[in-house]
Amino acid sequence: MTAAFARLWAEIAPIGLDPAGGYRRYALSDPELILRDWFRNQADRRDMTVTDDGNGNLFAWWGRQWAPGTVLTGSHFDSVPHGGGYDGPLGIVSAFLAVDRLRAAGVTPAKPIGVAAFVEEEGGRFGVPCLGSRLLTGAIDPDTAAALCDTDGVSFGEALGARPAGALPALASRVGAVVELHIEQGRALEVPVGVASAIWPHGRWRLDFTGHGDHAGTTRMADRHDPMLTFAYTVLAADDEARQAGALATIARVSVQPNATNAIPSLVRAWLDARAADPATMERLVEAIVKRAMDRAAHDRTELVVEPESASPEVTFDTALADRLSTLLGGVPVLPTGAGHDAGVLSAHVPTAMLFVRNPTGVSHSPAEHASDEDCAAGVEALATVLGELAA
Ligand code: GLV
Ligand code: MN
Ligand code: MN
Ligand code: MN
Repeated sequence: MTAAFARLWAEIAPIGLDPAGGYRRYALSDPELILRDWFRNQADRRDMTVTDDGNGNLFAWWGRQWAPGTVLTGSHFDSVPHGGGYDGPLGIVSAFLAVDRLRAAGVTPAKPIGVAAFVEEEGGRFGVPCLGSRLLTGAIDPDTAAALCDTDGVSFGEALGARPAGALPALASRVGAVVELHIEQGRALEVPVGVASAIWPHGRWRLDFTGHGDHAGTTRMADRHDPMLTFAYTVLAADDEARQAGALATIARVSVQPNATNAIPSLVRAWLDARAADPATMERLVEAIVKRAMDRAAHDRTELVVEPESASPEVTFDTALADRLSTLLGGVPVLPTGAGHDAGVLSAHVPTAMLFVRNPTGVSHSPAEHASDEDCAAGVEALATVLGELAA
């Protein structure tokens, strides 16, 4: 299996390389469209029919599409800028190989198996993570999704070429189980394969710090209304509050107007990503950060507007299913994660599980993200075992 994995992996490895390192595979951008063609091709090679749910999500079918008891697997192709190659595509490549593995073993599943490629999981282009699975489950309204814009002003609706179709009403009655395989994104998994127990609640907030744009050489320090100061203070306050709460706060994306060396900015727009083990801690964390930022804005004579952009509630995966899969795989560890996944969105509607593949660097959303071919092959074997069991 290691050689089969390496061969298939090599097909997608050159697609969407970021000249600055890692991958840039934004949803519905050229590299992601090439990966979608690759997906159709892989399905063709295996006599699997491909359907599109009208939301940008693709499904390759072994068996009758959406027949009751359907077992969905797969993941996403899109990446963050400078992202790793495994976050997402590993789940899709592994799903096709697991189908091969089952067929080679002469297995004919009683229930259909659907390999999914969900669109815009990272929210790297249109801002809202898991956009495809949110649409499929009705967690976001199609018009709201269609109107989301990328930094060039292109809307999701335009990129998709249509108004998204929205929720599949029969989803819960058609799908018996969902299993997403994903590279582990922290330092918690010390054996090749594990099973997910939960996803921490998390969310994104847009912070607009406004002040008075002015000349860097002629504006006395006492006369300034500099939003960069409020922003800088907020970054430190977020770090401090997250440490105190035992939670996570990240400000990693920022844009400045006019972004000139010799002009005091008029606007600093930044995004806060906050995560915690439970919703109450996360709420308190965000409140504390916003309070300190607001107080600082008053001190700096600037203004701050906070706009929630997306919320991902706490997910506890089906405990019985997680335990069953862990046992089936020989007692592999069951562990929580702070990273969001389409499986998390789907878990509100159908019994859902995740398999994690070891990441020896412990790094993700970075070119340093890595998994060995041997561990990926172990992931395929585990996924095949699980799919064979769930689709029997
Ligand atoms: C997506 O990978 C996220 O958790 O931010
Ligand atoms: Mn990711
Ligand atoms: Mn992912
Ligand atoms: Mn994710």
